[in-house]
Amino acid sequence: MERLETERLILRRFQPGDGEDLHEYLSRKEVVKFEPYGVHSETESRAEALRRSEDPAFWAVCLNDSGKLIGNLYFQQQMPDHFRTWELGYVFNNEFQGCGYAAEACRKLLEYGFTSLQIRRVTAHCDPDNAPSWRLLERLNLRREGHFLQTGYFKNDEQGRPKWHDTYAYGLLEKEWQSSRTVKRDEN
Ligand SMILES: CC(C)(COP(=O)(O)OP(=O)(O)OC[C@H]1O[C@@H](n2cnc3c(N)ncnc32)[C@H](O)[C@@H]1OP(=O)(O)O)[C@@H](O)C(=O)NCCC(=O)NCCS
Repeated sequence: MERLETERLILRRFQPGDGEDLHEYLSRKEVVKFEPYGVHSETESRAEALRRSEDPAFWAVCLNDSGKLIGNLYFQQQMPDHFRTWELGYVFNNEFQGCGYAAEACRKLLEYGFTSLQIRRVTAHCDPDNAPSWRLLERLNLRREGHFLQTGYFKNDEQGRPKWHDTYAYGLLEKEWQSSRTVKRDEN
């Protein structure tokens, strides 16, 4: 796996020693609210850092001046391989949200995917209630392709009943990514 760099960030593979920084955000209710998992204990975060260090789908996003891990991206090829479709995901420490870091990291990963991995299509999914997530996707020029109702649930309510959620599906084709880059170049 490559190591990628942007103006402010380094994108690299997880390392077993990332447990502490990972815990800083996986332990927060507001960060994991829309994730399929709950808040992590310190032990669980350390185990998760170790697991992710062996899973190339996870990219650690770090500040390039201090090296601090501030979030992660998820970028996984979908089956079958020859469809050349990849799923994008992201989770950032809430102390480092609202700074454009997630968009900067995703843009770099999309560029890497479309130029080096021969990707044809990128997809992403989020809960319509998760406005920061779909706003980010639209900032990245992904197109909303559908609004699916009550697709699943990750958590139960206080009575133990499933909290069904809807899903927005987003997509971006390689040719759309290319033309959005051309438009941006023409504007400058
Ligand atoms: C989804 C998530 C990654 C979005 O993070 P984010 O920081 O809002 O996204 P961006 O990197 O695009 O930052 C955009 C914000 O930074 C602001 N910003 C500040 N400085 C900036 C800069 N130098 N460059 C760009 N944007 C900047 C923008 O104005 C924007 O603020 P706004 O949302 O108030 O308009 C984040 O909310 C998160 O991790 N949530 C918890 C996990 C989660 O739900 N993941 C998704 C599951 S589907």
